Amino acid sequence: MKAAVLNGYDKNGTDLVVKDVDVPACGPADVLVKVMAAGVNPLDNMIIRGEVKLIVGYDMPLVMGNELSGVVERVGDAVIGFAPGDRVYARLPLGRIGAFAEYVAIDHRAIAKVPEYLSFAEAAAVPLTALTAMQALDLLDASEGDTLFISGGTGSFGAMAIPIAAARGLRVVTNGSAANEERVRALGASDFIDYRKQDYADVLHDVDCVIDTLGDKELPREFGILKQGGALVSLRGLPNGEFAQRAGMGFVKRLMFSAAGSKYDRLAAKKGQRYRFVFVHSDGAQLAVASGILESANIEPSVDGVFALGDVNAALAKVVAGGSKGKTILTLE
Ligand SMILES: NC(=O)c1ccc[n+]([C@@H]2O[C@H](COP(=O)([O-])OP(=O)(O)OC[C@H]3O[C@@H](n4cnc5c(N)ncnc54)[C@H](OP(=O)(O)O)[C@@H]3O)[C@@H](O)[C@H]2O)c1
Repeated sequence: MKAAVLNGYDKNGTDLVVKDVDVPACGPADVLVKVMAAGVNPLDNMIIRGEVKLIVGYDMPLVMGNELSGVVERVGDAVIGFAPGDRVYARLPLGRIGAFAEYVAIDHRAIAKVPEYLSFAEAAAVPLTALTAMQALDLLDASEGDTLFISGGTGSFGAMAIPIAAARGLRVVTNGSAANEERVRALGASDFIDYRKQDYADVLHDVDCVIDTLGDKELPREFGILKQGGALVSLRGLPNGEFAQRAGMGFVKRLMFSAAGSKYDRLAAKKGQRYRFVFVHSDGAQLAVASGILESANIEPSVDGVFALGDVNAALAKVVAGGSKGKTILTLE
């Protein structure tokens, strides 16, 4: 089968090689999926540059790609709930990625059925960011009516996080690029701040919770707008000891991440706030819940560019360039 392969990390980024590789073996708990579309994420470029290898390290060569939609071709003996012909989608398990390929074998606990109203391309835009939103919101432990600030909510994360947070009864405030204001308001954002014209730190204060997508530079200011005792979940900051423990990491990594994230823990402690880091993991059951929320709100995932597998490097470059109006998709149909 054809697949896009990374031959080694490169901190400056490097091209993937599209070549023939073996179809992956399908274990007893796996489904073999014929991939129809795959989502391209900032995470893929971070993996290529070796930026997440302390959280999850990969052997090379590596078939790249973290999320996909497709059709079940075969199921292992221990699989329940899925059958050949099902339309499914998934954020792949961290240790076993490979969505930029014609076939992928996935543990059935990582997949969910694609809601009927979504095309394969639209569906491939959902799993990674929808699960990130679910997992970040669970960590925030917010109550109905709370105000949530999502920084940079105009990208592909916001496209899932805004409607899911709104469905949980949160009042969502976001900032981002002006061209996307109407779209994010339609997704459920109550207030929007154009980040090139106005500083959110000048207009927001005492918000109940924050989801940070921007990382180190913005984190101190995001803590600044958070109320006493509020919670902040970051997708881009440094992992801390609490994350390492939650992820079940060993002693050495727990020590390392405790040291790395301690500056945010200290910032949070000043006003009795909580700092959490999320690194999205696969969860088919949680994806099924998210699917229900998206379907009942009739949320159309925003697709911003569709590329063939052979153009995977152009797709990755588009994601690096920014200016996102939604998800970049590879199509394998
Ligand atoms: N930890 C995890 O598990 C996890 C999971 C999902 C995503 N993430 C991370 O979350 C981040 C967002 O992901 P994404 O897929 O939504 O990215 P994306 O599609 O590239 O969107 C980013 C959005 O943020 C806007 N933006 C850029 N700089 C900004 C600023 N200073 N203030 C406000 N908005 C700004 C961008 O607008 P312009 O392009 O117009 O500037 C763009 O609309 C990425 O860094 C990704 O790696 C992490």
